[in-house]
Amino acid sequence: MKKHILKTAIEVYTSEKELSLKDQKLMKKAKQALKKSYSPYSNFKVGAAILLKNGKMMSGSNQENASYPLCLCAERVTISAADSVHPKVPILAMAITAKSPSQTITKPVAPCGACRQVIFETEMKHDTPMRILLQGETGKVYVIEGGKDLLPLSFDGSLL
Ligand code: THU
Repeated sequence: MKKHILKTAIEVYTSEKELSLKDQKLMKKAKQALKKSYSPYSNFKVGAAILLKNGKMMSGSNQENASYPLCLCAERVTISAADSVHPKVPILAMAITAKSPSQTITKPVAPCGACRQVIFETEMKHDTPMRILLQGETGKVYVIEGGKDLLPLSFDGSLL
């Protein structure tokens, strides 16, 4: 028997002010996107912003539905919008943030498992890692070098 230990490296910044100006801009765009969240059921707003290789930024937010399983996460809304309009342009980075009416979120908010799978597929499709920047409303920012790091032992299309 052999034991494999999988490691994930996370860069921890004390606040968004420590980020490069480009990353600050991306996080700001994700925070602006929160305002467009349609979340009357959970009241939990999530905003995402992506940086494309052509320099463009796009953003999105979670979109809920009275039929709860149809709720769409901000990350998948944003990736789908970008890849629909610019299917050949790799996504270099994505900033994710969230806001709740019941508490000030001071910890970085990470994408759900389904979104991690979609982030991973998008990286494979474009053969480009997607840097992930995570922040709550305030506080520390986590930066992960690629979505693959958020999904160890990932399932991909190679066996299909
Ligand atoms: N949500 C996201 O937008 N992204 C995630 O990664 C996790 C959850 C949304 C879905 C739903 O509208 C609300 O947050 C509460 O789960």
